[in-house]
This record gives sequence, C-alpha cells and structure tokens, in this order.
Amino acid sequence: MLRLLTAGESHGPGLTVIVDGLPAGLPVSGAAIDRDLRRRQGGYGRGGRQKIERDHAEITSGVRGGHTLGSPVTLHIVNRDWENWRRPMQVEARGFTSKRVTRVRPGHADLAGVLKYGFDDARNVLERASARETAARVAAGALAKALLRPAGVTVHSYTTRIGPCALEAPAGAPVAWDLVEASPVRCPDADLSQAMVAAIDAARERGDTLGGCFQVIAAGVPPGLGSYRQWDTRLDGLLAQALCSIQGVKGVELGTGFTAAAQPGSAVHDEPRWDPAGRRFFHRTNRAGGLTGGVTTGEPVWCTVAVKPISTLLRPLRSVDLATKAEVNAHYERSDICVVPATGVVGEAMVAWVLAGAFVEKFGGDGWAETRRNWRAYLAGLRRR
Ligand SMILES: Cc1cc2nc3c(=O)[nH]c(=O)nc-3n(C[C@H](O)[C@H](O)[C@H](O)COP(=O)(O)O)c2cc1C
Repeated sequence: MLRLLTAGESHGPGLTVIVDGLPAGLPVSGAAIDRDLRRRQGGYGRGGRQKIERDHAEITSGVRGGHTLGSPVTLHIVNRDWENWRRPMQVEARGFTSKRVTRVRPGHADLAGVLKYGFDDARNVLERASARETAARVAAGALAKALLRPAGVTVHSYTTRIGPCALEAPAGAPVAWDLVEASPVRCPDADLSQAMVAAIDAARERGDTLGGCFQVIAAGVPPGLGSYRQWDTRLDGLLAQALCSIQGVKGVELGTGFTAAAQPGSAVHDEPRWDPAGRRFFHRTNRAGGLTGGVTTGEPVWCTVAVKPISTLLRPLRSVDLATKAEVNAHYERSDICVVPATGVVGEAMVAWVLAGAFVEKFGGDGWAETRRNWRAYLAGLRRR
C-alpha cells in the first residue's frame, strides 16, 4: 500500500513529504521531481510568491545511489519566503510577534477553521489550508510517476478553460503535449492561449480573479486497476476524492460525465471489441474515461477538473472582523490571479498518486523487479485469453 503524509505551513521553514510503500530498486531522479515543482510554479497569472520561491526537493531518506530502498522516502522543500516570516511563524513563545488575521477572507477556510479549532487568529488556519501544500503533493506525484513510467504509464494535463475562454476540442482527442508545455497557460491552442492571457490581464486590472478547467489524461494504464469490491476501493471514487482535495477544486468529471447525463445511452456507452492482431480487447470509444465499475478498462483514464476563481481579491469582498464582529473589507495577502495551469500540474500528481497506489496494490512486490515480473505476467496472461 502506498501512503503519503505532507506537513508544513505556508510561511514556515518548509514542507516535509513522507512517501511510504514504494518498492525497492526503483530509479528515482531528484531532477525529475524538481522539474515538476518548477512546472507547478509556472503558468500565467501567478503572484509575487513564485518570484521568491525556487522549489527544490531535498531527498533525505529512502533513496541510495539513484534507487529506492523500500524504506520511507522523505523529501524536504524549503520555503524561501520563511525569511520574511521568521517572527510571526517562530516556534518559541519568547519574542513571538503575531501577524494576526481577523478579517476572514471569503472563499478560504479562515472562518470555518477558526470556528472548528477555537482560534482568534485566522493565520493559524490559512498557514496550513494554503495551497503551498500542493508543492508537497507534486513532489510525491513525481515519485508516483517514477513508478508508473517504467510500466509505460504517462500522466499529462492541459488547460481547457480559463474564465470565459474555453477549448472546443472533441473529448479524449490527442493532445500535443509539447505545445501545452510551451504555452503560458498550458493550453495547446496558441490563439486561445493568447485570449486566456488577455482574460487574466483584464481580471487583474479589475482587481478580480479567474478560475477554469483542466483535463488530466493517463495513457498506458493496464486494465484491472481498482476494484468494485467495496465503495472505497473503486478507482473512480478514489480519483474524484484525490482531485477534489486540491485547494480550490470544486468539480471532477470522469470521461464525458456531465455531457453524458444529457444524452441517451446509445450515444454514451463504449462498445468493446477484440483486436486479433494485437491480441487484446479494446473499446471503440472512451467516453467513460477509462473506468467502469471503479476498475480501469485499459483505455486512457481521463477526467476534467473545475477550479474556482482565486478567493483573495485585490478589490476585497466584504467580510466580518472576528474580534469586533463589524462588517469590513476582507484581509488581503499577496495572491495569484489565476492558478488553473498550476493546478493542472497538481492534478497530474494526484492522478499519478492514485494510479501508482492501485498499481502497487494489484502487482505487489517488495522490489521493483518482483513488481515488474507480476505486471508482465499479468499482461502476458491477458494476451493468452
Ligand atoms: C497552486 C495553487 C495556488 C493557489 N494560490 C492561491 C493564492 O495565491 N491566493 C488564493 O487566495 N488562493 C490560492 N489558491 C486557492 C486556494 O488555496 C483555495 O481557494 C482555498 O484553499 C479554498 O478552497 P477550498 O475550499 O477548495 O480549499 C491556490 C490554489 C492552488 C491549487
């Protein structure tokens, strides 16, 4: 079983990631982790924080000579911004100066968190509820990709909507990933990318923010990952939970999900066929997003994810002060305008994490050679049917 724990405050000294359950002998590269961390920091519409941070994951356990040991892998990502927050974020009580937040911000966990924990300072909430934590998830996702890559599974994402600008591409159509990575908003359509950039600029001018959608596609996924055995073993549910847990994500559509709800069954369900040359079953279409009964079908797993507009507005919404109970302008703290491109990278990490967990569960093995043997034997068995 793969397990993931992350720790760390947004303006604390750093983030800690513990990944447990990776088989031994898996090639792991710190450079590949840092590459994904850099991708998360990018995307047009980010704020000043990304100019301060230069995310790098220091591996402090579980890897030796470029290969996993089977022991827990610990990663540490420094928060460079901590230098500016040493006093208000210090551990010791002596000399502590709080930067209290009492004008709770709409759309953030500020109010719900202070009520839940009995705080009088929303900083105690926002420091952990903040999406800075997604850097830890992306690092863990890079380790999950390191497991999936040698098994031929790739996980990509791209932006399909920012505010009013939406990509009208057929569902599940091939995507030019080099164009995605070259686009400032991670959208493969150059004209639409420009329109998205203009929409973000216009939102910034107005003191407003934008949300949007991204799609994640995992290709090369073997059939049979996940299980309909129980509600909490279904892979569709696990993917939706993992994606919905990303800060700011408000919707997950598996395959053609919401469109399918308006269509007759004849236009929705994917017909299976046998390919005698490749000796494999396949589906003529993949509207289901590569999942039926919570189990992968062997087709690419794909889903679309909705991200709400950033909650912190330069022209603040009205709110309430925790101390005085008076109506006030919400607290403003340096903020992004639009994070849909960056959230796509986090979505990739979460999908990779869930698929890697299901892969390890199905194929087992303490060492990668054993896991790979089991996986290859299973695929060979499918071809002998
Ligand atoms: C990569 C990333 C960066 C984000 N940056 C900001 C930000 O700078 N300012 C902000 O108000 N919200 C930001 N958010 C969104 C908030 O974290 C999110 O709106 C907040 O956690 C409340 O949403 P929730 O109810 O889904 O947790 C970011 C989200 C992600 C994924």
